[in-house]
Amino acid sequence: MMQGEIKTAVLIGAGNVGWHLGHALNEMGIRVLQVISKSPSSCKELAGLLHADYTTSLQQLAPEAGIIVIAVPDSRIEEVILQCDFHQNLVVHTAGSVPMEVFNGRAVNYGVLYPVMTFTRSKPVDLASVPLLIEANTTGNNENLNVLATRLSGVVRTISSEQRKYIHLAAVFACNFTNHMYALAETTLALKEIPFDLMKPLIGETSDKINRLSPRAAQTGPALRNDIPTLEEHLRLLDSHPDIAELYRQISKSIITFARQKNK
Ligand SMILES: NC(=O)c1ccc[n+]([C@@H]2O[C@H](COP(=O)([O-])OP(=O)(O)OC[C@H]3O[C@@H](n4cnc5c(N)ncnc54)[C@H](OP(=O)(O)O)[C@@H]3O)[C@@H](O)[C@H]2O)c1
Repeated sequence: MMQGEIKTAVLIGAGNVGWHLGHALNEMGIRVLQVISKSPSSCKELAGLLHADYTTSLQQLAPEAGIIVIAVPDSRIEEVILQCDFHQNLVVHTAGSVPMEVFNGRAVNYGVLYPVMTFTRSKPVDLASVPLLIEANTTGNNENLNVLATRLSGVVRTISSEQRKYIHLAAVFACNFTNHMYALAETTLALKEIPFDLMKPLIGETSDKINRLSPRAAQTGPALRNDIPTLEEHLRLLDSHPDIAELYRQISKSIITFARQKNK
């Protein structure tokens, strides 16, 4: 395959990532030929928007795709691969935690295209600044993937499966856990019928601060100050929510431990 040759794509998965990548590929002139998903409604809807064909049968995978993007839940990637005949086409998955070796013996040209971003179908994301982490089984495939990824984003890195696992773990802390903290804040406010909107400027400033300071330097709050009376009062307010209180205890402990390490 010649460098930069990818002109067409097939999407397997019409969920959050399939949706965003499909639109981005279309916008940059990579024609999405076909969308495949489990249910007819989801592949039909996305295919309609991308002017592509659709099917729920992996056996009907279009044989002429320049790149096949598998954007299905991590736990489904292997079973999808086992059902497909990729021929000589380049095939990638988009998962942070699944090693590239999942394609071993099942494809000739393969790799990974992992976007370090949180995607939800209903919320547009500008891919141009989203880190795209690539990996491929040959130098040529890596070059082709790099050309494609560079058209999608200004931040493209070649990363091994081992490194990617740690990046995914970090993303769970930085994004998924942080969002769960927002959900807990919303639950706490709801106890007194206070709107969550009140938190939004604080959340905005907290995430903006790490553009100037390291996360450790940006930490504030009662645990950092070792303010025991306030910590005890917060735990008292959570008397009727022992699971949340336990989480509060553990995270406060972690903040105190980090602060002690910093002060050594
Ligand atoms: N969402 C993110 O923020 C994000 C970020 C980076 C990487 N990723 C990775 O991207 C991948 C997809 O995540 P997602 O959030 O897009 O998942 P998702 O929204 O749950 O969508 C999964 C899609 O896969 C389809 N699917 C499931 N099993 C299938 C099968 N056996 N055959 C064909 N299609 C099947 C589903 O079909 P139906 O529509 O019919 O149910 C659905 O369209 C995962 O590997 C994930 O780790 C996600």
